[in-house]
Amino acid sequence: MKILGIETSCDETAMSVIEISGKDDIKVLSNIISSQVKLHAKYGGVVPSLAAREHVKNIKRVFELALNPIRSKNPLRALAASNGTREAMKNIDLIAVTRGPGLGPALLVGITFARTISWLHKKPLIGINHLEGHIYSNWLSYAPTDDIFPALNLIVSGGHTELVLMREHGKYKIIGETMDDAVGEAFDKVARLLGLGYPGGPLISKIAENGDPAKYPLPSPMAKSKNYDFSYSGLKTAVLYLLRDLKLENPDEQTRADIAASFQKAAIDVLVQKTIRAAKEYKVKSILLSGGVSANKLLRENLHKTATEAGLKYFQPPMEYTTDNATMIAVAGYFTSLNNKKAPISGVKMDANLGFK
Ligand code: KG4
Ligand code: ZN
Repeated sequence: MKILGIETSCDETAMSVIEISGKDDIKVLSNIISSQVKLHAKYGGVVPSLAAREHVKNIKRVFELALNPIRSKNPLRALAASNGTREAMKNIDLIAVTRGPGLGPALLVGITFARTISWLHKKPLIGINHLEGHIYSNWLSYAPTDDIFPALNLIVSGGHTELVLMREHGKYKIIGETMDDAVGEAFDKVARLLGLGYPGGPLISKIAENGDPAKYPLPSPMAKSKNYDFSYSGLKTAVLYLLRDLKLENPDEQTRADIAASFQKAAIDVLVQKTIRAAKEYKVKSILLSGGVSANKLLRENLHKTATEAGLKYFQPPMEYTTDNATMIAVAGYFTSLNNKKAPISGVKMDANLGFK
């Protein structure tokens, strides 16, 4: 079975083709991502109307590239090269598109494109929740089998910080989430305070390698609260006050590295603590990490170590599938289609909140 995945919820126009032969055997035939990071960097964050305009500009090319993989070993290549996308589309069994949450204007570009090719090529279409897509990026690493359930997902991205209990494929319960900023958003905002640029996560973690995480003890937000919710806006403000108290308008390199390391530690510690505590309370078999912040080395290492010590199975996506991509949407499309009573195929509804966030 071959599935075309489409993702346009934020600032990446992405399409991917995967082939699934058994439940555990997922082959990625193409994974095309056209990133708009440089465009939005000027504004310190993603501008929705600009993101939508870029998706419109790039989506047809990304579609052609996804069906015409450059790597010659790709079986779709010959067909697509000789007969174009129309022939290549004959090989596709299902189209999966991100239906939300995300930026409304950006989502609409992907959904409209998906509906059009579904109609034109007479292929079934399925709408996928973006966060469910992130969860399924884990199936691209170790191909977890079903004895991982119940599983606890820690989903950490620019827009979300969620602990989601997964009893089986398609069965979710949110047990904790952020009350204000998402953790990725906090990385982005603190990076801006330190004059580092956008996106902030990779830049903070890079300079933090040379910093002392104990130099400026910062509050680990809501670490002591009994529930599984998070809060990151206070931590960002604590960095702002620290810079003010240090009377540093333009901190030197070492000070910035120390602040970055201290912030990173505070941000990550609470994620690891609450995830492990929730895993024990809900008696899960495994922990699955996902979302853009799952690229963070410290988080990967600490959560892996703590989960393993607690006797839990631990999964994390391969680095290339941590940030937004369409392969994860295609994989989620496959598992959702197995259970298609709940998710009508050949109709895409946007999320209940219209996916606007
Ligand atoms: O999942 P994603 O690509 O997009 C959303 O759905 O939001 O996540 C993007 C977020 C950004 O906030 C970015 O700063 C963060 O992931 N991020 C990181 C790292 N790499 C990306 N945060 C911390 N450490 C990283 N290495
Ligand atoms: Zn995402």
